[in-house]
Amino acid sequence: MDRYTAIIGTGSYLPETVLTNSDLEKMVDTSDEWILQRTGIAERRIAEDDIATSDLSVQAARLAIKKAQIDPLEIEMILVATVTPDTFFPSTACYVQKGIGAKNAAAMDISAACAGFLYGLDLANGLIVSGQYDTILVVGGEVFNNIVDWNDRNTCVLFGDGAGAAVVQATEESKGILASYIGSDGDYADIDLLGIPAGGSRMPVTSEAIDQKLDKIQMNGREVFKLGVRLMPEAAQRALSKANLSVEDIDLLIPHQANLRIIEAVGDRLGVPREKVYINVDKYGNTSAATVIIALDEAIQDGRAKPGDLILLVTFGAGLTWGSTLLRL
Ligand code: ACO
Repeated sequence: MDRYTAIIGTGSYLPETVLTNSDLEKMVDTSDEWILQRTGIAERRIAEDDIATSDLSVQAARLAIKKAQIDPLEIEMILVATVTPDTFFPSTACYVQKGIGAKNAAAMDISAACAGFLYGLDLANGLIVSGQYDTILVVGGEVFNNIVDWNDRNTCVLFGDGAGAAVVQATEESKGILASYIGSDGDYADIDLLGIPAGGSRMPVTSEAIDQKLDKIQMNGREVFKLGVRLMPEAAQRALSKANLSVEDIDLLIPHQANLRIIEAVGDRLGVPREKVYINVDKYGNTSAATVIIALDEAIQDGRAKPGDLILLVTFGAGLTWGSTLLRL
């Protein structure tokens, strides 16, 4: 009997506090016009000081579990994709396990930056199709607030906080994940390209490191931009060809929400008409591992993604990492 991985429930949670471009104008030398023109971002959500990634993730997970109409005790595995874990260890997934009362689940984090959620989905698919597990919770959650240098206009305007979650379950119906592809290239594991130098085993957080802002995101935006525009269409094509489907078959493209210009360039390179490209970067900015699952959940809620639709998700992130998932809802 063939086994497939169906998405049986999704949820998302964004903190209430909105940080607009005009708020940022008061913090750094920037303008609403510059941010909108270069990124398409109008506002982003910021978690309160005492809120961590697991707090947002638990809220998103509860909504996904409710939609899936399952008991949390049915969940056998929790995968949390994040680069902003609550703590190095225990894993954020363990805090999520406690928060949702999923006592029967194994739990672990995935570190693949903005590609993390699709890494999680790919792993969950493998574990389900192989017969090892039946029900898995995959979460993408981030609180970037604490790792952004709020004096650096090159980065602080781009990111936001949020979480999204999906309950995936084995089915014998030919639906759900039709194809999935993930990849990486460590030649780009360059901290100046995209990353945080201090805080790991390479460089502890010392007062010197803090003075030099080495515990905050460093990024060469122009280079990352070019890589994203090249890698995401390539990744998207890989999932399509694995499933023997073409761009014309897609009902909705959900690219990683980092920058409107990147999103539009990816859609154009793939030949997907603009009305089939999902965009919410204007409201939330880049929530890293959470963007595509927040967008999928929103698309389901607002009727842009309907049962039976063919949806292509594609991401890229630091590492470099990338991934694409083709699913039939
Ligand atoms: N406000 C005003 N001016 C700014 C700002 C700002 N917020 N930020 C940069 N500038 C200035 C620069 O200093 C530069 O000035 P200069 O010409 O005097 O040197 C000028 O604007 C142009 O800068 P560029 O970097 O060339 O601007 P660009 O058009 O490339 O846009 C941006 C910058 C928005 C960062 C873009 O390159 C981008 O979105 N890159 C991709 C970012 C991304 O996707 N990151 C993914 C992270 S994923 C993860 O894994 C965490």
